[in-house]
Parts: sequence; C-alpha cells; structure tokens
Amino acid sequence: MKIRINKFIAGSGFASRRKVDELIEQGRVRINGKVPLEPGVMIDPDVDIVTIDDEVISLEKEKVYILLNKPPKTICSSYDDKGRKTVIDLVNSRVRVFNVGRLDYDAEGVLLLTNDGELANMLTHPRYQVERVYHVKIKGVISPLRIQELKKGVFLRDGFVKPSSVRVIKSTGINSWVEVVLREGKHHEVKRLFDYLGYEVIRLKRVEFAGLRVDDIPVGGYRELTPKEVRRLYAYVKSRMTKAGPERKKERDIIY
Ligand code: URA
Repeated sequence: MKIRINKFIAGSGFASRRKVDELIEQGRVRINGKVPLEPGVMIDPDVDIVTIDDEVISLEKEKVYILLNKPPKTICSSYDDKGRKTVIDLVNSRVRVFNVGRLDYDAEGVLLLTNDGELANMLTHPRYQVERVYHVKIKGVISPLRIQELKKGVFLRDGFVKPSSVRVIKSTGINSWVEVVLREGKHHEVKRLFDYLGYEVIRLKRVEFAGLRVDDIPVGGYRELTPKEVRRLYAYVKSRMTKAGPERKKERDIIY
C-alpha cells in the first residue's frame, strides 16, 4: 500500500511530520537515491528505499512515549553541532525518539519525547491549541497594570499572542514568579512576551504540557508514559480539535 513520504518518515519515529517536511525541503531525503520533487509524493514502503542523510528509514511499529524533566543546559535536538548535551543524550530508549516541541537551552521542565510522529504533530500544531503552563522568574516586581497588558495579548513579529491566563505566584521585591498559560509554541514565546514588557527572564520552567506534569520526576530524570496516559493524550488532542483555533487579529503597529 502506498503512503505519503512525510507520513512514512514521521511513522518511522525520525521526526514529527512538520520537521520531516523541512528535511524534504532541504533535500536531505531521498527515495531510491533521488531527491523527491515535492513533499507529498507517495511511496510504497515494501518496494521503495527511503534515506535521510544516507540513513535507511523503516517503519517503527512500537510507539514509545517518554516524559522527561528537562534540566537547564540541555538542547532540544537529537544532535548539536556545538557538542552540547542534548535531551536525547539523557534518555536510554530502546528505539529512537525525538522531542515534541522545544524548550530553550536554559529552560527546564516538562518535555515529551516519542517516536509517534502523528501525535507529536497534533501536540505541536497551533490548530490544536495545546495548553502549556510556564512558571517564569523575572527580575523586578511586575505591576498589576503590566499583568493586565499581558492578559490582553501582545503582537509579536510572528503573530498575536494572548495568554489564556496570567497570575503572579510570588514576589520578593527583587524578583517575581509569574504563571503564564499559553496555547501555542512560538519560538522564545515567553521570553519575548516579557522582553516586550521590559522584564528579563532569569528562570523558565514548563510545569505542564497537554496535562502532563513532572512533579514525580527529579530534574534530569524521566519515565515512560503509562498506556492510560497515552490514551488520555490522544483524547486530549481530539477534544482540542473541535475547539476554536488560535485567536487571529490584524497586525497593529506594535510588533515585537
Ligand atoms: N518560551 C520561551 O521563551 N522559551 C521556552 O523554552 C519556551 C517558551
């Protein structure tokens, strides 16, 4: 049976569907030695040989879901050309997995690793509005007015971002911890929101992602999800699918 090339590679556990499209665009994917001319090309897994950077790709039937409490100073990638430790280096998995979305090098907290490209795609696609809860330590004290401003939403250069909730957890007079709940995974999203408000982020923890938490896992530790948790994740993304998509607004003059 024929299958779309990006679906085939995502099903192999190499990367999420979106990442696979990037690899195809970069000309790193070959079918029977030839670079495909379009990302949607169909292949027959029983006949065609698919390679990425000369590595042969085959369908991985067993799905693995690993919940990692990401420590700071680790990079969300399977390889780093600067030789920094990656999140994949931290786990001892019997099959190849990749990170679902990203946390910055200095950020910590909930990170899912899997070889389930379809689920990863749904969890990271803005259409599904998957909830991410961040605890953010900033320099200084944040006023209720600035919190209101954040709640109303900010125009970043790649779109409007409106947190679903914002609250101050604690303030020492020197630093503050703020909880921000977001439903999209834009690059450096939290840092850019606080940069816009004029605050420096000194610590960033993701405490929840799609309902997953790492309270039972030490920093740098991990565990596999139970079958029940995996079923819950699927049910979660399916329930999100029927809800409204991301809030769209026309760009105003403030672009940060
Ligand atoms: N926002 C950021 O700025 N960094 C992260 O790692 C996650 C969200």
